[in-house]
Amino acid sequence: MNITVIGTGYVGLITGVCFAESGHHVYCIDVDEKKINQLQKGESSIFEPGLSDLLQKNLKLGHLKFTSSYDQGLAGASVVCFAVGTPAQEDGRANLSYLSDAFYKCIELVPEEVLFVIKSTVPVGTAFSLSEKASKLGKKVRLVSNPEFLREGRAVEDFLKPERIVLGATEEKTLKTMKELYRPFSALDRPILVMNHNSAELAKYACNAYLATRISFINDIANLSERVAANIHDVRSVMLSDSRIGSKFLYPGTEKYSLSKN
Ligand SMILES: NC(=O)c1ccc[n+]([C@@H]2O[C@H](COP(=O)([O-])OP(=O)(O)OC[C@H]3O[C@@H](n4cnc5c(N)ncnc54)[C@H](O)[C@@H]3O)[C@@H](O)[C@H]2O)c1
Repeated sequence: MNITVIGTGYVGLITGVCFAESGHHVYCIDVDEKKINQLQKGESSIFEPGLSDLLQKNLKLGHLKFTSSYDQGLAGASVVCFAVGTPAQEDGRANLSYLSDAFYKCIELVPEEVLFVIKSTVPVGTAFSLSEKASKLGKKVRLVSNPEFLREGRAVEDFLKPERIVLGATEEKTLKTMKELYRPFSALDRPILVMNHNSAELAKYACNAYLATRISFINDIANLSERVAANIHDVRSVMLSDSRIGSKFLYPGTEKYSLSKN
């Protein structure tokens, strides 16, 4: 398939490189020309194990290209993935201006059958709202929410062997395209979880919030251990041995406890 990825930050670069590695033809677009120049030379802007080799290999094969021109990057695309930043603003709300900018540019440049895939983390209702805005402009868009779950240091592995693929879309044609896109990964028997847009958007926040809660919780227990002369290593070992709690993402954030991460 011909895929365009908008935004070559952490998520966009991993997405572009891994889709190219799985046999798709990928064009990555970024407004940051310096970053694009570097990437065209095969220099990765981030470090992740395995990324640099796959970037250089797929550039050489011609499966992966970089540009800062929307016209060039979108020509011939059947799928457009949005991976631009959605940073929190001072009031806590997500800044969706990068996503809106990219979205409005794309709807002007691509035919209606092109599928838009939202990989950026967005507040509930964003996909619906973008579709509504497009239709007010007389454009019909096909849109799927496809949140990304990458762990720092294991992002390439996570993308190539995802624990699950989340698809927020109900239209049969959209789901067929997405299953085709992810065929190289889902062949590994990874579940594809299909739901509506809002559920997919909320699921991403639910996962992030839950994982953050576990880390905050164990940090509090570590602080409490110090105050009551308990040993956090011992306390944690009891928690980890409880199968209802599970062993992942339950280590205090400070180095002074020097616990191995999992
Ligand atoms: N970093 C993570 O671990 C992670 C994991 C899962 C999901 N996410 C989500 O994925 C999204 C992207 O995160 P990131 O960390 O890759 O962001 P990032 O800030 O590293 O990269 C965003 C890129 O988008 C580019 N950009 C901005 N506006 C653009 C436009 N209009 N057209 C083209 N390019 C544009 C920027 O120049 C930048 O290179 C966010 O919504 C984030 O919450 C991040």
